[in-house]
Amino acid sequence: MRVLVVGSGGREHALAAALAADPGVTAVASAPGNPGMGSLGPLFPVNPLDAEAVAGAAVEFRADLVVVGPEAALVAGVTDAVQSAGIACFGPTRSAAELEGSKTFAKSVMAAAGVPTARSRSCTTAAEVAAALDEFGPPYVVKNDSLAAGKGVVVTDDRDTAVAHAAGCDRVVVEEFLNGPEISLFVVTDGTTAVPLKLAQDYKRAGTGDTGLNTGGMGAYATITWVPDDVVPQVMQTVVYPVLKEMTDRQAPFAGLLYVGLCLTAQGPRVIEFNARFGDPEAQVLLPLLKTSPAELFRRAATGTLAELGPLQWHDQSAVTVVIASKGYPESPSAGDLITGADGSGYLHAGTRLTGDGRLVTSGGRAICCTATGDTLDEARAAAYELAGRVTLDGAVWRADIGLPSPLTGPR
Ligand code: AMP
Ligand code: GLY
Repeated sequence: MRVLVVGSGGREHALAAALAADPGVTAVASAPGNPGMGSLGPLFPVNPLDAEAVAGAAVEFRADLVVVGPEAALVAGVTDAVQSAGIACFGPTRSAAELEGSKTFAKSVMAAAGVPTARSRSCTTAAEVAAALDEFGPPYVVKNDSLAAGKGVVVTDDRDTAVAHAAGCDRVVVEEFLNGPEISLFVVTDGTTAVPLKLAQDYKRAGTGDTGLNTGGMGAYATITWVPDDVVPQVMQTVVYPVLKEMTDRQAPFAGLLYVGLCLTAQGPRVIEFNARFGDPEAQVLLPLLKTSPAELFRRAATGTLAELGPLQWHDQSAVTVVIASKGYPESPSAGDLITGADGSGYLHAGTRLTGDGRLVTSGGRAICCTATGDTLDEARAAAYELAGRVTLDGAVWRADIGLPSPLTGPR
């Protein structure tokens, strides 16, 4: 099988690496990819939001399967274009990707499907925002309705900050604050059959100890052992299957990867958000643990044949990824800073690029994901931090507590 991976971040490098290691895969290419992905196969320098250009690259590469990483590409209709070219594509169509593309749409699907989630109001005027803030009270949760690369949400006790964030968005969702640790559940689906992956934990705040702003994710780990065994089956029954049915009823069947962001509240699991693709950096820890062929899993999801795949097989290990971000992340990440030491396996590239004279530099934002597996979480953690310790990057931003307990990420 020849596979084209769309995107250029740490998640996409993890996808390309897992596919390259799959005995069923004969060649992997990336569009547009990054320097790390370039060591796995050809790079097609296309804009991943240009659906026709991506489909053209898939045809040129003679891809049997396209795997789309970033949400913006899904929302731009890359899957629709690739399918129109007669090629199987792992990732929802443009209309199904609205589950991530619009928080108002996601809330309406959840309401119709009876999914447990935070109460919310979708607002377009300052008066509506003010009324919703007063209705729910502090801590205030204010979400930009559309895609914002993980930075569209403000959670604050300060009403002025909440009002200011809302004023900067066209349409906002104001919602009730959910209290409890968060976890990410990833479900591979062909629209009818759904297969949960292992749970993974993402560290969303910029600073050690859950301090600082929300980011795209500063690190992740799996395997999680502290979540009760009944949570995943319960979420499949109360969230995943009802949502898949609702999407089919809306003529927008969802096939691909459904990311269910959960808050484990005292009242039970509540959905914080849906995403229409793998989490980044959660993919970096889940894919190395998957023993089942990822190409086969994604191909079946893309072709409506997931029911025929047996149960997923996993390595009995843990994995940790530590993100190294460029100076100033997340407020004002700098670009063009030299990265050294990130050579060899375990370094997944995110925002990196090669200069004309071959030096590896940051391209702004998260730069390198230092990823390791181990027989225990502590072993994986030690190995990931050893990798991180070898990287030099001026002003690097990273957390020291990936894999450790924290208020938002729960116990261990
Ligand atoms: P989202 O983009 O919706 O995932 O939100 C990003 C982050 O904001 C989440 O991972 C949570 O940490 C936080 N958040 C979002 N919604 C809520 C909520 N209703 N209550 C508490 N925290 C929230
Ligand atoms: N790690 C969170 C996300 O991918 O949205």
